Amino acid sequence: MTYQNTMKQLSEITTKFTESVIREMTRISSARGGINLAQGFPDFDPPRIIREAAIDAIHQGWNQYAVTYGEADLREAIARKAFQYNQIECDPHTEVTVTCGATEAMIATLKALVNPGDEIIIFEPFYENYGPDAILSGAKPRYVTLKAPDWSYDSKELTAAFNRKTKAIIINTPNNPTGKVFSRKELEEISRLCIKWDAMAVTDEIYEHILYDQETHISMASLDDMAERTVTINSLSKTYSVTGWRVGWAIAGPDITSRIRKVHDFLTVGAPTPFQKAGVCALKMPEAYYASLQERYNTARNRICAVLKTVGFNVDVPKGAYYIMAHTGVLMDRYQDMGAKGLCLKLLDITGIATVPGTAFYHSPVMGHDQVRFCFAKNEQTIEAVCRRLERLIA
Ligand SMILES: Cc1ncc(COP(=O)(O)O)c(C=O)c1O
Repeated sequence: MTYQNTMKQLSEITTKFTESVIREMTRISSARGGINLAQGFPDFDPPRIIREAAIDAIHQGWNQYAVTYGEADLREAIARKAFQYNQIECDPHTEVTVTCGATEAMIATLKALVNPGDEIIIFEPFYENYGPDAILSGAKPRYVTLKAPDWSYDSKELTAAFNRKTKAIIINTPNNPTGKVFSRKELEEISRLCIKWDAMAVTDEIYEHILYDQETHISMASLDDMAERTVTINSLSKTYSVTGWRVGWAIAGPDITSRIRKVHDFLTVGAPTPFQKAGVCALKMPEAYYASLQERYNTARNRICAVLKTVGFNVDVPKGAYYIMAHTGVLMDRYQDMGAKGLCLKLLDITGIATVPGTAFYHSPVMGHDQVRFCFAKNEQTIEAVCRRLERLIA
């Protein structure tokens, strides 16, 4: 069925953003039988004990709607872990909202905070969803660039981005797509600006356990005077390799939490009940689990970075998360006029590996055209296959 004059009849807001490039590349990859390094999910199973906890929950009858803002035992487990790992003190009954992934936590938070005309600061390159999130919430995004090789920002540019209309700044640390881990000094500088301009910090900490080279994760809400002006977003997805379970959360002061809960309730009612129950088990994993997760990703990171360099990419080795934002040195030289997406499709043709064009992570198409994002959350066999295929570029 086709509609006439589609753009007049249908929602205007949806004309302001495109289909997710990440999911588009995923589709193209599966149609062509490629190895999908475009979308950020692992190709290995979560720990058995967590899988069994989900199956047990189903057998024990946890199959109906959960408490809309999250089962009490999961909120308590989230608060306990936030205290131990993030030095965030929160009341599980009034300051935690369980959502359908970090994705819903972010849009529910922005919907809870933003009024028309408010501005939101976003570091770029950014996780693809933040741009549409800002549009859907009615905020005007202002972008501050993270610059290679260490993906640092220019303090003057950041300072200039704040003004009296600034409602919030979104910080993703460890960062997708760059692998940047924000330092204490940087977070303190951002916090001073938030306090000066009475702005909120919305932090996406979904990769908090995926760190390399002795990096440490610092939560904005643990900094002086920031607990009450920070919304801390997290999820089971990446830490426990369960991206399909759709369980995330937002931690915020009681006033903001009550607004996030209202938005969440009408958006989705609640996150899947059995997976919330399994989340309680996940959040109790011992220290050794997190160490082995880091070890696995560290090995994959080192292997892929080395091969990318050998075949002619310029690589800034990531400090966290599981992506490499590589500069397309060799490909650019050969296929200059193809554009960023064309380069990724060429790479898929030659190697059978799907990636994401750098442009997907910037608000302006002139940025990121010489960058390609590789996700290395893959098992050893896949990583070896990827390395062999990449070598075709110099064959
Ligand atoms: C920075 C970031 N935030 C959020 C998400 C999505 O999280 P969830 O699966 O919990 O919705 C992703 C997924 O790739 C991500 O990279």
